[in-house]
Amino acid sequence: MDVKLERLPGQVACIRIDRPEARNALNAAVRERLAEIFIEIAQDETVHCAVLAGTDKVFAAGADIKAMATAEPVDMMLRAGERTWAPLKDFPKPLIAAVNGYALGGGCELAMHADIIIAGEGARFGQPEIKVGIIPGAGGTQRLVRAVGKFKAMKILLTGEPIAAREAEAMGLVSEVVPDGEVLDRALALARQIAAMPQLAARKIKELVLQGSDLPLEAALLLERNTFQLMFGTADQKEGMAAFLEKRAPSFTGR
Ligand code: CAA
Repeated sequence: MDVKLERLPGQVACIRIDRPEARNALNAAVRERLAEIFIEIAQDETVHCAVLAGTDKVFAAGADIKAMATAEPVDMMLRAGERTWAPLKDFPKPLIAAVNGYALGGGCELAMHADIIIAGEGARFGQPEIKVGIIPGAGGTQRLVRAVGKFKAMKILLTGEPIAAREAEAMGLVSEVVPDGEVLDRALALARQIAAMPQLAARKIKELVLQGSDLPLEAALLLERNTFQLMFGTADQKEGMAAFLEKRAPSFTGR
């Protein structure tokens, strides 16, 4: 199996792509399996936060070029790649990408489906599609510009040249850079920390950041205000504030 799902203590799921012979290229089997896993863990109440990783050498080298080389537009339309990306795009819980090595093309787009990106010092991010005569097809022209702004995004997209983890961090594409050997441990520790938070609050924060960024500011602020008020109907709000006032640790139930 090229994609492995592990449920770890602390309400964390860890998904690992393991197809080293093709540098974790995202062929149909890998994408189908990722889609299945994200549908499964979205519904699993025991999973509060997920980590998505590749191997310790490569995150993912993009869509499978061998499977696309002779394709016609109709083939690509019938493949309907967006169907397998949708469960990742719509995953309602916090998702952390743990990136070692290359995250290129669809691999960079995969990382950008996450909410937090932890990268190793040796990680490389890029959208090299232009070098093989195409353009990014899983959000690269859209999510990258939202993450780093027009002028950094254009340089990455138009040259196809990869950038190093530190540069990616400086431009806002990476949340944190750690030594290569510590990427997965750091991502899992962060996932456990987030998994221990009130879950409805975590999901609403994700929803608001993602949905709000494409709305006019006033509409997004209204959405935030309404959701903020709604949180006062949760048991975790009562518990969180009571625990603070009573100077004790809170015990959250996710309700
Ligand atoms: N698709 C299919 N096979 C791939 C692949 C890919 N994206 N990336 C690597 N491989 C395969 C190679 O063909 C090679 O296979 P063989 O052993 O059968 O020849 C094997 O993986 C090892 O590759 P390299 O010898 O090139 O390994 P390397 O360590 O020297 O280099 C790399 C690694 C820099 C990632 C390099 O393989 C590379 O540049 N890959 C292509 C990256 C790319 O162009 N990605 C964009 C794809 S298009 C896309 O993603 C569209 C989209 O938006 C959805």
